[in-house]
Amino acid sequence: MDATAVAVGVFTTDGAPRLENRGMRRLLGGASGPGRAPVRLVSPGFPQLAAAGQRGDAPIYRGILHFGDLRSVAHSLRGEVWRLDDDLLILAEFDVVELERVLSEVSALNSKITNLQRSLVSEQKALERSLDELRATQVMLVHSEKMNALGKLAAGVAHEINNPLAFVRSNVHTLGESFARLLAAYEALDAAALPGGSGDMAALARALREETDLEFLREDAGDLVKGTLGGLARVQKIVEDLRTFARLDQAEVELSDLRESLESTLAIAGPALKSDGVQVTLEWAELPRLRCKPAELGQVFLNVLINAAQAVECRGHGNGRVVIRARDEERCVALEFEDNGAGMTPDVLGRIFDPFFTTKPVGQGTGLGLTISHKIVVDQHGGTISARSTPGVGSTFTITLPKELDS
Ligand SMILES: Nc1ncnc2c1ncn2[C@@H]1O[C@H](COP(=O)(O)OP(=O)(O)OP(=O)(O)O)[C@@H](O)[C@H]1O
Ligand SMILES: [Mg+2]
Repeated sequence: MDATAVAVGVFTTDGAPRLENRGMRRLLGGASGPGRAPVRLVSPGFPQLAAAGQRGDAPIYRGILHFGDLRSVAHSLRGEVWRLDDDLLILAEFDVVELERVLSEVSALNSKITNLQRSLVSEQKALERSLDELRATQVMLVHSEKMNALGKLAAGVAHEINNPLAFVRSNVHTLGESFARLLAAYEALDAAALPGGSGDMAALARALREETDLEFLREDAGDLVKGTLGGLARVQKIVEDLRTFARLDQAEVELSDLRESLESTLAIAGPALKSDGVQVTLEWAELPRLRCKPAELGQVFLNVLINAAQAVECRGHGNGRVVIRARDEERCVALEFEDNGAGMTPDVLGRIFDPFFTTKPVGQGTGLGLTISHKIVVDQHGGTISARSTPGVGSTFTITLPKELDS
């Protein structure tokens, strides 16, 4: 009887309360106060209920009971009315209007919670994205710091080699000239001594000529000097390539010949490619000079070439081949690096640009080469880099660079 969820009350047939539980008291007392009409059952009205008469063991009314003060307060409850001799027992189960209000509040709260959940999820996604971006930036920074250090080292080494190289070249050149003059003097002396054909001087000259194998010396010394100068020229070229690679003395964005960048990269990667038995072929179309960052692009070419060499080595068939093609397309230039290495499965292919993704043994690959290349080509040049591959057959990397660089 004391529960508030159910309102129970006994009333006289003209509506006077005789007994009420807390639920009924709350229902009827809700709006009582000075100057206010009391809350009472308005529909069905007491006269109507009183007229219903006795119904034995069934309620005389079952349905919605409206309580109110005929002005502002109105409650509609599901309930029933029983006739107990001269009294009416009213049982009201729950307030329909209140329930609807509570239900609508609950559903409003629910949708608020759903909205909050949605915004939480999207915030979480945004956070995850920023975290990924931060990680990628960190990777870039670490790598570019490393490349910076490597570039400085290369430039430093190149600079250090450059000075001694210059005087070794000049000395060998002078040595060659001195030797030629020495030889000429010797031959003149020889010629002066010989015409007589006899005497000590002539005999001495003849003996000397045979002893020193003059003819051989003349040819050999010339070849030696030529060969040495050739070797030194190659060292000089390597030093120049190192400097080009390090790009110490050039502005970042410049009008540049891609072929030059590629060849300087090839000069650096060449020995490694050759020692892996990889034959590199160029099928190069005439390309316009491009506004780009040649040092950075050199790095991309290096990454792609080293990957190709590693893939060929991994396949281990001994006749590795990399074909580099360049095409001049309407709005961009396209470079293709095709190898006949181990190739990639679709699963690997889908992840090659992910930071730290590598299939190489620990210590051999950091999984950054293509991440960096992607950043350089796509972010710095507005180009594209993509790959296709058949496992066991080979892979082709295609890089396109727009002819107009925006930034
Ligand atoms: N030409 C290729 N042939 C076959 N697989 C390749 C080729 N190029 C890249 N891959 C695959 O893509 C992966 C990622 O290459 P990426 O250059 O980013 O990293 P990595 O070479 O493993 O390490 P590093 O940071 O030293 O370059 C490689 O581990 C390899 O599995
Ligand atoms: Mg790599």
